[in-house]
Amino acid sequence: MALIEIIDLAVDYGGNRALQVASMSLEQGTLTGVVGANGAGKSTLVNALANWSRGDPRVTASVKLDGREVSHMTSAERARLGILLVPEGRGVFYNMTVEENIKAVIAPDRNSRCLFDRQRVLSLFPSLGERLGHAGSMLSGGERQMLALARALLAGPRVLLLDEPSIGLAPKVVTSLLATVRQLVNEGLTVLLVEQNVRAAIEVVDSLYLFERGHIVAHGNRDDMKNHPKLLEAYLGEMKK
Ligand SMILES: Nc1ncnc2c1ncn2[C@@H]1O[C@H](COP(=O)(O)OP(=O)(O)OP(=O)(O)O)[C@@H](O)[C@H]1O
Ligand SMILES: [Mg+2]
Repeated sequence: MALIEIIDLAVDYGGNRALQVASMSLEQGTLTGVVGANGAGKSTLVNALANWSRGDPRVTASVKLDGREVSHMTSAERARLGILLVPEGRGVFYNMTVEENIKAVIAPDRNSRCLFDRQRVLSLFPSLGERLGHAGSMLSGGERQMLALARALLAGPRVLLLDEPSIGLAPKVVTSLLATVRQLVNEGLTVLLVEQNVRAAIEVVDSLYLFERGHIVAHGNRDDMKNHPKLLEAYLGEMKK
């Protein structure tokens, strides 16, 4: 059984359909990528899974976590079950220090699932440990992304939804951030990674979905997707042999 099972997901904003997904699933311990152009519906997808939104979407879907229906649950209830979103723009408090940002996370019940404690997240992201007294607003883009990830890990994720974590980051920082995400997946975490940086994403994912105008237009494992005509044409052209 998949860890996350999505059936008949539809999202409308004021009568306009932004997303329509018949079926999609995330296997436990895998890294699934979602790519597509601006406005393709990528954020709408992860926001719908976490039941989080800046606007007022109308969402219908069946979403199951480990076989348990969660679609009636609030974002807080889903977060308590371990469906954790790091939204576009990152979930960090700007007016609080790194230390306060870390302390503000409500850790889940210790027995319920694999946990990342403070020591572990600071060893994953050593530069945070050197900046514990810095305000969120003083961090670089990469540091802010690390802090957002650290906060999500401390909250005890079963599935981590990352919305464009690499945006605005230098290529080296992107590589190291995605390598850290891959490492966490190798340890058993399940991740849905939204990325505009298809070249970077394809190197770390197990499988990939391509969205266009709110629909899945291609899906497959990494090796198949690397050679998929739609991806070659729009994103990976020069990689073609
Ligand atoms: N709060 C909102 N109110 C109205 N329409 C919205 C809202 N959020 C998104 N949309 C619309 O839904 C569609 C999908 O948007 P979404 O933000 O999911 O795209 P995206 O794939 O994340 O794009 P990007 O790569 O630019 O982040 C777009 O047409 C967008 O204009
Ligand atoms: Mg988006």
